[in-house]
Amino acid sequence: MTIDLAALPHDFLWGTATSAYQIEGAVAEDGRAPSIWDTFSHTPGRIAGDDHGDTACDHYHRWREDIALMRRLGTNAYRLSVAWPRVVPGGDGPANPKGLAFYDALIDGLLEAGITPSVTLYHWDLPQALQDRGGWPERETAEHFAAYAEVVARRLGDRVTHWTTLNEPLCSAWIGHLEGTMAPGWTDLTAAVRASYHLLLGHGLATQAIRAAAPHAQVGIVNNLSTIHPATDTPEDRAAAHRMDGHTNRWWLDPVHGRGFPTDMREVYGVELPEREGDSAAISSPLDWLGLNYYFPQTIASDPTAPAPHVRQVHRPGAPRTGMDWEVDAGGIETLLLRLTEDYGARRLYVTENGSSYPDVIRPDGTIDDPERRDYLERHLAACASAARKGAPLAGYFAWSLLDNFEWAYGYDKRFGLVHVDYRTQTRTIKGSGRYYADVIREHGGRVRRAA
Ligand code: FCB
Repeated sequence: MTIDLAALPHDFLWGTATSAYQIEGAVAEDGRAPSIWDTFSHTPGRIAGDDHGDTACDHYHRWREDIALMRRLGTNAYRLSVAWPRVVPGGDGPANPKGLAFYDALIDGLLEAGITPSVTLYHWDLPQALQDRGGWPERETAEHFAAYAEVVARRLGDRVTHWTTLNEPLCSAWIGHLEGTMAPGWTDLTAAVRASYHLLLGHGLATQAIRAAAPHAQVGIVNNLSTIHPATDTPEDRAAAHRMDGHTNRWWLDPVHGRGFPTDMREVYGVELPEREGDSAAISSPLDWLGLNYYFPQTIASDPTAPAPHVRQVHRPGAPRTGMDWEVDAGGIETLLLRLTEDYGARRLYVTENGSSYPDVIRPDGTIDDPERRDYLERHLAACASAARKGAPLAGYFAWSLLDNFEWAYGYDKRFGLVHVDYRTQTRTIKGSGRYYADVIREHGGRVRRAA
C-alpha cells in the first residue's frame, strides 16, 4: 500500500506517545509519592502477572537514550505525561522541586534534539492522597487538578506550547469507577458519573489555569472515541448502539463544546450531576485543538441485565483482531476525524494515540519483525491521510507507543511499542514497524522539501 501523504501539512507533527506511570519507574525516588496506580497494581489479583510500574522502562534514568531513539525514528514530536504525584506529591500543597527538575531537563533534552514536546497533565495517576479524600467523585479534586496544572504550566510554559489536560477521561470514570478494572477499581455508577463530571470540570478549570500561566499555550483534551455499530437491525440493538455512542463519544464531546451533558444519557444513568452555576462555562472553555485516541470499532447489542448503559459488545464474525482482541477497522479513524470536523467544528486535530499489540518474535540475530503491527500502522496512516484529503484539519499523528510498556491491567504481556524493551536488561530494539514509521516520515519530509 502506498500512502498519499500530499494532504498532510508541511509542519505535520510525526510523533510517538507514552505516559508517566507506564514507562518512568522510579516510583519512590526524589520525593514522588504513590498514585492510585501504585496502590492498584500492588493489590493482588488486579494486574495480569501481578505486574506493577515500580521499574517499568526505567525511563526516569534512561530518558536520554529514549530521546536518541526518537531521533533514530526521525520523529519531530513526542507526547509525554507529567506525573502529578511526582510534581505535587500530596495532590495539593507544596510542589516537589526534584519532580519539576526531572521534567524541566526532559523538555530541554527534547528541544535540543529538535523534538516538539506535547505535555499531558493527567494520564490516570491521581495522587493517592487525593484518592484517600474521595478522589474524582469529589469536587475538590477538580480544583486541585487546576492548581497542579498551573504549577506545571508556570515551570514549563516558556518552552512547551502543546498542552493536554486529560487523557481519556472515559477510562478514569467508566473503567475506573464503573467497570472497576482500572484504578481505583470501583463499581459504583453514582461515583462514576460524579467522577466524569469532575474530570470535565477539572479539564475546564485547568484549561483556564494553563492559559493564565502560559499565554502561548495551545490547549486541548484527548478522548478515546469509537465508531459504534448495532449488532443487528432490531430497534433494541439500534437504541443500544445509540446509548453506547452517548456513553463513549457524546458524553465527553458535547459538554466541552458548550452543548451540555446529553439529556438522553442523563436519563440512562439516572444520577444527579453535581452541577453549580458557572461550571458549564468552565467546562466549555474554548480549546485550540482536539486529540483523538483511536484503537477499535465497537459492535453493540442491547443487554438489559448489564449495568448502564445496558449494552454488550460483540465481535463481528471474521473481523481481524489484535493481540488485545480488539477489532481492526482503519476506516473508523477516518470516520471519527471527519465527525469531529463536521459535527463538532474542530479547527485542529491530532491523532494523539493509535497503535496495536501483537506478540513479538525475536529472531536469533536479535532483530524483530512485526508485520501485523506494521500493517495496522500503515492502514491507519492511510485512513488519516484520506480524512485529511476530505477536509479534516489533521496536524499530527502520535503512534502508541514509543516503547513497549506497562499496559495497565494487562501488565507487561501486551506490547504496543515501535521499540521493543527487554525488561530484564532494559535493552531497546527498534522493531520493523518502527523502521517503517521512519520511512514514512522521511518520505513526507522529502515531499515537503520537493514542494518547497
Ligand atoms: C489507551 C491509553 C494508553 C495505552 C493504550 C493502549 O487507552 O491511553 O495509556 O494503554 O490505550
